[in-house]
Amino acid sequence: MDPLVNEIVLLLRTRKTASGWTPTELAAALGISRARVHRGLDELRALGYELTAGRNESLRITRSPDRMIDTEILAGLKTRIMARQLHCYNRIGSTNARALELAEARAPEGTIVVAEEQTSGRGRLGRVWHSPPGLGIWASFILRPQLPLQKAAAVSLLAALAFAQTVEDDLGLKVDLKWPNDGLIAGRKVFGVLTEVSAEVDRVYYVICGTGINVAHRLEDFPPALRQTAGSLAHACGRPLDRLAFFRSFLTHFEAVYRRFRRDGLTPFLADYRDRSLLLGREVTIHYGQKSIQGQAVAIDDHGALILRTTTGDITVVAGEATLREQ
Ligand code: BTN
Repeated sequence: MDPLVNEIVLLLRTRKTASGWTPTELAAALGISRARVHRGLDELRALGYELTAGRNESLRITRSPDRMIDTEILAGLKTRIMARQLHCYNRIGSTNARALELAEARAPEGTIVVAEEQTSGRGRLGRVWHSPPGLGIWASFILRPQLPLQKAAAVSLLAALAFAQTVEDDLGLKVDLKWPNDGLIAGRKVFGVLTEVSAEVDRVYYVICGTGINVAHRLEDFPPALRQTAGSLAHACGRPLDRLAFFRSFLTHFEAVYRRFRRDGLTPFLADYRDRSLLLGREVTIHYGQKSIQGQAVAIDDHGALILRTTTGDITVVAGEATLREQ
């Protein structure tokens, strides 16, 4: 958003009295012309803000848009790491791709790239992530944990756990986590993470943690191939949701788990992950490339890897796609 337009929103929101600001007062406070203020107000209306004029032309915001714009995401947000820098796009190829560019240009930890729509959203294992405008939260986080490469996968698990906690706290619904990091509600996938890492073996430079949250989709909004398996928060709740409020809450939960992870590692989270895990204790098949392996999922280790009990012994699985064998 234009910084000046942002300033106008902030002023309109901070007024202590009910009457609001007149364009003349806004112009004086910002040191700009009334004509520039009026152009800014037009921009706000075009973004979906509803401005109501009271006595003496004084303006109040009477409705804010449910759009992924910085002012709205940051309103009331108290995180210290997450959204330290925020890059919002109306339409972009992939937020992960943009975050990679920003990370290479030394964007700080906690930088987030968010888009209303992705035209080439990336899923795991080379898949496409369906990212239509207005229906979801498509966001990529730049994190710079001080870790060896083998522990970086833990960040995906943390994001999935933070998502599950947010859904439970805000919506009262249970999320099942399917290793490595899918979030399902009532058997439908609502959440996915694509984590991309730049590292040397001993040291991670940065992690791009790209999270896709299906928020407002009806089942018919998904492509036919996904209609049996994909879901959204609104579909699960049976009512419309405030996308921005959910995103702010997710940022708060993600920050809390990430801060603890930086201090104590993954171990304190494993019991919670186990409770929410769809796979642990079950017979599963793990597919990776052209190969697959079968066994019982028995544990998640301190690095976020899955321990699979097979006929020939326990195997540590670091990546792949899991399916349940008993159904
Ligand atoms: C999966 O396959 O489950 C992972 C999906 C990850 C999608 C998100 S949406 C925001 C970010 N940008 C991308 O291009 N992908 C991730």
